[in-house]
Amino acid sequence: MLNDKIINLGNLLLSLSDAVDLASNLISSHQQRTAYIAWQICRASDLPEETVKDVFIAGILHDIGAISVDERISMQNLEEIDYDGHCLRGELLLKRYHFFRKTSRIVRDHHKRWFEYEGEPETDITMSSQIIKIADYVERLIDRNMFVLRQKKAVIEKINSMSGTEFNPFLVERFNIISKIESFWLDVTSPRLYSQLFHDGPLKNIEICFTDLETISKLFRDIIDFKSPYTAAHTAGVSSTAGIIAHIFGLADSDILQLKIAGNFHDLGKLAIPNSILDKPEKLTHEEFDIIKCHTYYSYHIINSIKGLEEIAKWGAFHHERLNGKGYPFRIGEKDLSTYSRIIMVADIFTALTENRPYREGMKKKEIICILKDLSEKRHLDMKLAGLVTENFDQISDYVVNIENLIMEFYKSRFANLSHETFEALEPDY
Ligand SMILES: [Fe+2]
Ligand SMILES: [Fe+2]
Ligand SMILES: [Fe+2]
Repeated sequence: MLNDKIINLGNLLLSLSDAVDLASNLISSHQQRTAYIAWQICRASDLPEETVKDVFIAGILHDIGAISVDERISMQNLEEIDYDGHCLRGELLLKRYHFFRKTSRIVRDHHKRWFEYEGEPETDITMSSQIIKIADYVERLIDRNMFVLRQKKAVIEKINSMSGTEFNPFLVERFNIISKIESFWLDVTSPRLYSQLFHDGPLKNIEICFTDLETISKLFRDIIDFKSPYTAAHTAGVSSTAGIIAHIFGLADSDILQLKIAGNFHDLGKLAIPNSILDKPEKLTHEEFDIIKCHTYYSYHIINSIKGLEEIAKWGAFHHERLNGKGYPFRIGEKDLSTYSRIIMVADIFTALTENRPYREGMKKKEIICILKDLSEKRHLDMKLAGLVTENFDQISDYVVNIENLIMEFYKSRFANLSHETFEALEPDY
């Protein structure tokens, strides 16, 4: 079951890239639009099928290293900022997983100028990075407030003026071929681009299994958590807590793996929430809390749009619902909350209580047990599961803290302290 190939890779990555681009209308679909342009340049260049797939995946994920919405908007507006940071962070996030090894090398140089390659041999990877560079720039040159066919001439002229310095002249020539076609521009700006890429794109026939899905979910776990130093290990904590609760509860291995995946995706919608709210040290205003409430709404709809993950969407995204129906944002009650959803609910609260927050220190065992008891008596949480956590507190806590420490160590020593170092891909076992 775990190795059955049942999830379409294109469906999965397109939806996950939506999550990263949801933060502002100014950047919505930027990565999908870039991937489309890059794909068309590949086609015009007669590149091998494997390379086209790699370029397409890199296009969909190329800006995942940009952690704040402000950084993304500055890039979208073609401002003169430091572009190195998000390339290196993107490489670092991707490189940890063998599945994305090639993607990481393409993403690393997606802003490198063509003249900077002088003397270097042209490889599949360098060519791929340069394709993303042109595609990304074309996408950002398009004014989202103007009809695209009215501006295509100006975009083409601008790209050609940078040929031989910023951009590889051979690839600019390929771009010139596709940019003559009106439908190319209409596709780039089409509101239906997602379904076009899903049904016709280079990943349309690639199916993956749950084991690969878990790896991809870990990448997104890191993208979500590393947005803020306060939550840098939160998702890892929730996922591992859910896993160990499920294990003690006696669920099958395949269920445990899927619960861990649900844990990794549970806060996916936080990618759309500004850091100014997530990191605010003071109490949130009503308006800010309303914005926070959107995160599980987004988590649900993004995961639910991936065929085969409909159940995982419910398990992960219902973690702020309550058995008494007073949670948010769907206000569903116990009859719609499965054991799996209830496990993530308990895991989320347990993890949050143990963590330091801008406004308080992480809590101790006695206090946490007291809160879990109170919440289950008020029918916020499942009493049996809260009791299971209390009874096995030390076992659960030791296991989870160990994993959180490994993630924190990586976050502090590598992610928050970037350098141009190179290192081997390392698949973390947490
Ligand atoms: Fe970028
Ligand atoms: Fe970009
Ligand atoms: Fe949440």
